[in-house]
Amino acid sequence: MAKKSSKGKDKKLARKAENERAAAVAAAVKVLNEGSASGDLLAAHYPAFTRFDRNGLTAALRFYAAKELPHALLDWALGLTRDHMAALYDACPGWGWSDAKKRAELADPAARYLVVFEQQQAQQQQQQQQQQQADAGGASVPAAAEGEAAAAAPLTAAAGAAAVEAPAAASALDEQRENSAVAGNTSGTQAAPGSSNASGSGGGDSCLPGRPVAFLHFRFEVEEGEAVLYCYEIQVAAAAQGKGLGRFLMQLLELVGRRSGVARLMLTVFHANTAALALYKRLGYVLDNDSPGAVDPSGDHKYEILTKRLPAPAAAKA
Ligand SMILES: CC(C)(COP(=O)(O)OP(=O)(O)OC[C@H]1O[C@@H](n2cnc3c(N)ncnc32)[C@H](O)[C@@H]1OP(=O)(O)O)[C@@H](O)C(=O)NCCC(=O)NCCS
Repeated sequence: MAKKSSKGKDKKLARKAENERAAAVAAAVKVLNEGSASGDLLAAHYPAFTRFDRNGLTAALRFYAAKELPHALLDWALGLTRDHMAALYDACPGWGWSDAKKRAELADPAARYLVVFEQQQAQQQQQQQQQQQADAGGASVPAAAEGEAAAAAPLTAAAGAAAVEAPAAASALDEQRENSAVAGNTSGTQAAPGSSNASGSGGGDSCLPGRPVAFLHFRFEVEEGEAVLYCYEIQVAAAAQGKGLGRFLMQLLELVGRRSGVARLMLTVFHANTAALALYKRLGYVLDNDSPGAVDPSGDHKYEILTKRLPAPAAAKA
């Protein structure tokens, strides 16, 4: 009797290995999602990035999972995105701007946010005073932060050592949680949460550390069988643009990606958005293999998918 071919068995084994790998990636992404579902990830794990202070802009940063994002902040994020993006969406066949769709995207439970709040001198002083009081009384990490630190262990466990350097201006509120109610900022024309002329009553308004000026919406996802960190949105208000904030937020996102052990960062950008394209190119993003321009280089495309591969976590290399 002829020897039975082992090809079928090999295929079955390869399929099994592939299924196991896919399940492991899905499980890792689930852990990342669960680990970032509550608490202030920034204060707990990235304290050097809780402040931005350069080019005349002094700001505090906070992290929110979608379910913890105050309603007024969601409204503000929607308005800012509409102001900047509606025309670009409308110019792209098949996209078209829709408030309802964007609101649903922003409110999706998988959404994670980095929000930047401009601070006026009085707000900075108030925070400093609170910090001094906390130091004098023996500062302790709030219970929520401790709980989150435990739950989010995978976000730090992979600590791909070569983390993006905290910019020099990121300062000194290390280990501090901003849990204070801060008076609103009334400067500028646009009503926003944190400003006294803001309309709407989303939860947590009074706890905002200033006037929101920028946000980045990201998610942990599986793409092409890999764990990725997808940047859904980055929006910097016009008055805060050109001060390094966009770069700062993207660098912070990269740090989160590295520490989380994801394979790469991804985002979608319109061709017409030259400022954003310049930013991403400068940060080392390249065309994704699945991007319209990569699939059909001679076509006339309105948008592209960009990607930036991250180094494998040190533990995985060994
Ligand atoms: C794109 C955006 C996020 C950049 O944020 P920002 O805080 O103004 O950018 P930064 O000051 O950090 O600049 C970083 C880099 O971006 C590029 N850049 C920023 N603004 C630019 C502009 N108007 N034209 C060309 N390049 C620009 C530059 O390469 C710059 O690097 P450099 O400072 O070394 O020259 C901001 O302009 C924005 O929110 N635009 C509207 C919303 C939007 O388009 N979002 C992106 C959707 S994909």
